[in-house]
Amino acid sequence: GVRAKILGTGSAVPQRVLSNADLEKMVDTSDEWIVTRTGIRERRIAEANEATSDYVAKACERALTAAGVDASEVDLIVCGTVTPDMMFPATANLVQNAIGAKKAASFDLSAACSGFLYGLSLGASFIESGHFSYVLVAAGDLLSRITDYEDRSTCVLFGDGAGAVLLGRAEESEEAGILGFSLGSDGSGGHLLNMPAGGSRIPASAESVAARLHYLKMQGQETFKFAVNAMVSSTEEVLEKVGYQKEDISLLVPHQANIRIIDAARRRFGLPEDKVMVTIDKYGNTSASSIAIALDEAVREGRAKTGDLVVCVGFGGGLTWGSVAIRL
Ligand code: ACO
Repeated sequence: GVRAKILGTGSAVPQRVLSNADLEKMVDTSDEWIVTRTGIRERRIAEANEATSDYVAKACERALTAAGVDASEVDLIVCGTVTPDMMFPATANLVQNAIGAKKAASFDLSAACSGFLYGLSLGASFIESGHFSYVLVAAGDLLSRITDYEDRSTCVLFGDGAGAVLLGRAEESEEAGILGFSLGSDGSGGHLLNMPAGGSRIPASAESVAARLHYLKMQGQETFKFAVNAMVSSTEEVLEKVGYQKEDISLLVPHQANIRIIDAARRRFGLPEDKVMVTIDKYGNTSASSIAIALDEAVREGRAKTGDLVVCVGFGGGLTWGSVAIRL
């Protein structure tokens, strides 16, 4: 049958850096606390006149350039985001117009930090079914827009950015491809990580704004415990599905939420540090984008090469989690 493969990757992050020293002036925190508890040194913050679609469009254009495919050939754009430009139209619709993907269908996907993994799985399935030839799988979040900069327990963690891949058909003779995926969710944990207001349950009102309900809320310790287990079990599940062992992994590209979560998972698999992609020191947690950005940087830095077995794995609000095994 037809198999999907990655034809090109791209990413885009804001220029402006928010360092731990900057945060020390905003809330009662310290560079030492942030680095030892999270591994984050700085994060990027978009300008006030920018929105998520600006960065997603750039990431998509870079993925198309890397693949050598014109935007007019794209059949579908899927964008994982929890910080769309607005409730509707979808960010993917705005990107479709911005990049001139004239024949593409487009929609957003809401799976928080797992958005890119859900999108990859979906995009690959559309290609394997024969429905589409070229699918742009994108993820973008400006978490700064929903971060409460008076809450030190969350504001040190998050940053802005976007990433994308172009999926196309692999040749029969090729080994390259999206080999398999594993996705999961548990809505009973939805309260651990959410933005309470701005939807149909608590529409925007003077009261909801005053109560700071339009900001991301997180129960950090509960999320942490869930995260380590989800990363480990999801990676094991996808390896079993595609018939590989953990020793076969060339590069693990995990969601960048906390270096301690990444390290805990890495140790459970007995992987050396050079087989795990880490960007959290530079960008913090960029939600759905984090894996897409890390994958793009791995490819551009030559840390992930043609023929490598790359496993992307992540977790996030929902709760959601997932993993995708890729032969580059
Ligand atoms: N600076 C200084 N002190 C702080 C800060 C800060 N920025 N934040 C919290 N503290 C204090 C707390 O108040 C607490 O003080 P206390 O002991 O006097 O009460 C102390 O530090 C310890 O706080 P904990 O919450 O126990 O710290 P912990 O080691 O658990 O680290 C963290 C907190 C970093 C949030 C961690 O729990 C974590 O990473 N959780 C998972 C987060 C995650 O993966 N989120 C996924 C998000 S994905 C998405 O959908 C966006």
